[in-house]
Amino acid sequence: MNINSKTNSIVMETDATKKTSFPQNKFTVLILDDEKHFTEELNEFLQNNGFQAIEANTANQGLSVLKKQKIDLLILDVRLPGSDGLDILKEVKEKYPDMEVIIVSAHGDMDTVIKAMRLGAIDYLRKPFRHIDIQIAIERTQKFLYLQQKMKKIEEKDSLISKSLEERIGRHFVGVSRQIMDVLEVAMTASQYSDTNVLITGESGTGKENIARIIHFASTRKDNLFWAVNSSAITDSLLESEFFGHKKGSFTGAIADKKGFFEICDQGTLFLDEIADMPLNLQAKILRAIEEKKITPVGDTNKISTDFRIISATNHDLDKLVEEKKFRLDLIHRLNTLHIHLPPLRERPEDIEPLLLYFAKDFAMKFNKHTPQIDKDVIQALKKYDFPGNVRELKNMTERAIILSNGGPLGVQNFPVKLKSKSSKFVSSIKLNLEENEMELIRLALHNCEYNQKATAEILGISRDALIRKMKKFNIVIKKNGD
Ligand SMILES: Nc1ncnc2c1ncn2[C@@H]1O[C@H](COP(=O)(O)OP(=O)(O)OP(=O)(O)O)[C@@H](O)[C@H]1O
Ligand SMILES: [Mg+2]
Repeated sequence: MNINSKTNSIVMETDATKKTSFPQNKFTVLILDDEKHFTEELNEFLQNNGFQAIEANTANQGLSVLKKQKIDLLILDVRLPGSDGLDILKEVKEKYPDMEVIIVSAHGDMDTVIKAMRLGAIDYLRKPFRHIDIQIAIERTQKFLYLQQKMKKIEEKDSLISKSLEERIGRHFVGVSRQIMDVLEVAMTASQYSDTNVLITGESGTGKENIARIIHFASTRKDNLFWAVNSSAITDSLLESEFFGHKKGSFTGAIADKKGFFEICDQGTLFLDEIADMPLNLQAKILRAIEEKKITPVGDTNKISTDFRIISATNHDLDKLVEEKKFRLDLIHRLNTLHIHLPPLRERPEDIEPLLLYFAKDFAMKFNKHTPQIDKDVIQALKKYDFPGNVRELKNMTERAIILSNGGPLGVQNFPVKLKSKSSKFVSSIKLNLEENEMELIRLALHNCEYNQKATAEILGISRDALIRKMKKFNIVIKKNGD
């Protein structure tokens, strides 16, 4: 049966335009055409085929339906008396961008079709058309809408994932200092560029491996392996086979084919911990593997392609090792496309308190204890400490304090730390003049004890009177707010 364009229908308010409470889960089609005969027939056909259909015979009627309820698809006559269908199309696409529009017209000229498509119509049908034509056009539109919704859901899910990931990272990588914020920002950038190699430097215990894991698990490689390798823990003779794999029988003990780190990290991340310990001959081979993204297992002649990302870490000064010819400069250039430096804890004292509270809560939970109160002076004392072992040291001392605690608040006595010495600076600039050093030591002790003379004397192992005498001797005067 054909739906024909025969008459100029009389404009009438239809029953359908008054209905506004259709179930929203059905695909709802609004037919806007001035030919009543056409809209009635199409309405009946659509209803019979399981769609929710509404008729409108004037632009005003149509627009008022759109105002009242959500329409999935508008079938729009491009020529309506008194208004241009293309203007309506433009208006409704602006107001209801999620609604699709199929244009129908008895006067289909190419120009109108192109204009309609440019204005966002999804399809164009020329009257007269068969039921099957409109059915196909609607089904195509439904499919498009379905895919669009699916994409939207995926995008929403992705943004939820990254949000929850950010929250997780925020929870597990604790820090409020500007330096840590910057580190996390670069780490997030690194996770978005999942082929880019990253070099993480920093003293022992500053969180290098933590950051490497964060980068991996926030990247598109997250569903594949994160493999941490410390080459200094592998005997030299096995290094090549561990990294590149081997063929059965290629050396004594090679009883079966074995994949190496590069191959098992295909699509994943290879974390090279303490790269400074890597022997020079292995450095050359690793450089080639990175450049070619191909490896040759020991005893094999074929090359295997593998898509790994390398994150490496060291607490050594690589530039110095290059000078000493212990590390290849070209390898550094390959490894440090992005460089993240984790500053030592003593350079970001504002992180001590949140880290301490985090570890205390974590260990208390682990050991089934109440999270203890922590005295304010603990934080003051820890801020004066050097933390040569950085966050790991703080974590360990908190664990010990929680294990030994009897449930009461934790005080300085639970965190036995040595006096913070501005050690390296002080020691390196040391002159062997006793008198000068005595004066320096007194100044340092005063500073570390916040100019409390009793505590300073105690730390220096002298009486308070002796301290006062020495202060006079060296002309050390305490001003109100410090030295
Ligand atoms: N900002 C942080 N928030 C929470 N935990 C941290 C943080 N930084 C480090 N840690 C914890 O401190 C310990 C040491 O961290 P990690 O192993 O990452 O250090 P590293 O720099 O790799 O040390 P090394 O050079 O000795 O290998 C780990 O238990 C880690 O979870
Ligand atoms: Mg480490």
